Amino acid sequence: MAAADGETWWRRGVFYQIYPRSFQDTDGDGIGDLRGIVERLDHLVWLGVDAVWLSPIYASPMEDGGYDITDHTAVDPVFGTLEDADALLAEAHRRGLRIVLDFVPHHTSHRHPWCIESRSDRGAKRRDWYVWRDPAADGGPPTNWRSISDERPGSAWHLDERTGQYQLATFSPAQPDFNWANPAVREAMADVLRFWLDRGVDGFRIDMATFLGSDEQFRDEETPAGGPPVDYVRDARYHFNRPEAKDHLRELRAVVDGYPDRVLIAEMLYDSPIDVLVEFARDAGIDLAANFGLITQPFTAEAIAAYVEAYDEATEAGDVWPNWCLANHDMPRPTRLGWPTARTAMLLLLTLRGTPFIYYGDELGMPNVDVPPDRRDDRWSVSLAGVTRDAFRTPMRWDAGPNAGFCPPDSRPWLPVGDDHERVNVAVQRDDPGSMLHLTRRLLVLRRRTPALTVGTSTRMRGLPTGCLGFTRTARGQRMLVLCNLARRDATVELTGVGPPRIVETTGAAALTAAGAVVELGAGSAIVLQLP
Ligand code: NOJ
Repeated sequence: MAAADGETWWRRGVFYQIYPRSFQDTDGDGIGDLRGIVERLDHLVWLGVDAVWLSPIYASPMEDGGYDITDHTAVDPVFGTLEDADALLAEAHRRGLRIVLDFVPHHTSHRHPWCIESRSDRGAKRRDWYVWRDPAADGGPPTNWRSISDERPGSAWHLDERTGQYQLATFSPAQPDFNWANPAVREAMADVLRFWLDRGVDGFRIDMATFLGSDEQFRDEETPAGGPPVDYVRDARYHFNRPEAKDHLRELRAVVDGYPDRVLIAEMLYDSPIDVLVEFARDAGIDLAANFGLITQPFTAEAIAAYVEAYDEATEAGDVWPNWCLANHDMPRPTRLGWPTARTAMLLLLTLRGTPFIYYGDELGMPNVDVPPDRRDDRWSVSLAGVTRDAFRTPMRWDAGPNAGFCPPDSRPWLPVGDDHERVNVAVQRDDPGSMLHLTRRLLVLRRRTPALTVGTSTRMRGLPTGCLGFTRTARGQRMLVLCNLARRDATVELTGVGPPRIVETTGAAALTAAGAVVELGAGSAIVLQLP
């Protein structure tokens, strides 16, 4: 578990999330694969990240982008083979990169052989691996529990005509819930962890961690039917958000602790309050309980500064390590903030106290692509921002050539690469020191060689002009000051009581006066200063 010295790799390091369908296609089917990731590992080394989180690579009918699994210990043929997974682990480790897999223990695909068996008969051996209930007295669903998939609102229960019972599927009907009250399910999932740990993976991101287990008395929720899904997700007491989830996760922690130096990351609710993030990490044996504050808070200096301060204090007091992200496969890319704010968001991500997660392509400032309806793939959900998730799952852009170098010129990528790929791609930006790519890389280098930025304490700077936020990071006598102007107009910050600072990085449009006591911050820009 967490080492007290602050030097554990997942505290010091930076994660990079890869959506495998979209990183690099090597076999010409227009879908990314594991060999493609191996081919591109040197990009990650050059960029300077420490660990990769791979969204699911397992056997799946892909009705939910691989989060609908039919075999947790097989690689889907579209991504390659188990040998390819082993090769990826070996090649990543050879380069000093860690690999963290997505672990999806809450549900399976409805096509999983266990689910098919469970559904086959009331007396089936694995019937109770999933959650089945008799209809209510009126023949309707057994409880008022709701589906949380935006495109399938309504009951989370689905009647199976043949066996006359309802089956629980909290997300989509194609992804029925496992019955976590059943020890056989828990053991099967522990075996999945062992399978991958034995192959050398460095940890797991646990999908829907707070959803494991439902009320065994099947009590109705009190939240009004028909209210917004986010309220239901936050307020549910019986359907999910159960205390049992922490017990189940601690059991998994014990399995993982049989292997040295592994990390467990938990997916949390998008609007989990800070105290829940801290408690959950502590009580469930989770190293990093995913914090979406930079996505869910309004991107204003006031909101972000207050959130950062509250999260800092709570994690410090609770002795859990913070973490941050700007996007993921469910939430739009930071380019939603416009320029130059998206650059400032990256600077913030990489200078805040806590482990950063970079979503693939955000190092380039890839846009949220407007995917035409006839090219859309994501069936089940729209993100919180109300756009299809396809918009931020489009292929990585490697060069200005056909298909952005993601797949061979004569193949059709599974999602369009987007119009501006000639400009926004790795090759072009590598030649441009002013690019988002170089900014991200410089920030990663800076972070790596600056203890104040990796493990240092954080103190909010007050009294800044409206629209600006600032904080100092301190460790081993080294002090860094980060200032961000999130407003639409330029700002001037006077530094008092500090000696002459030195500029170590800016997003552009930020400068010090000759005397070094006044910082000019252009609208949307940021600066990192070293204080004497
Ligand atoms: C959470 C994953 O992040 C999301 O992509 C998926 O759709 C749901 N779990 C359901 O599997």
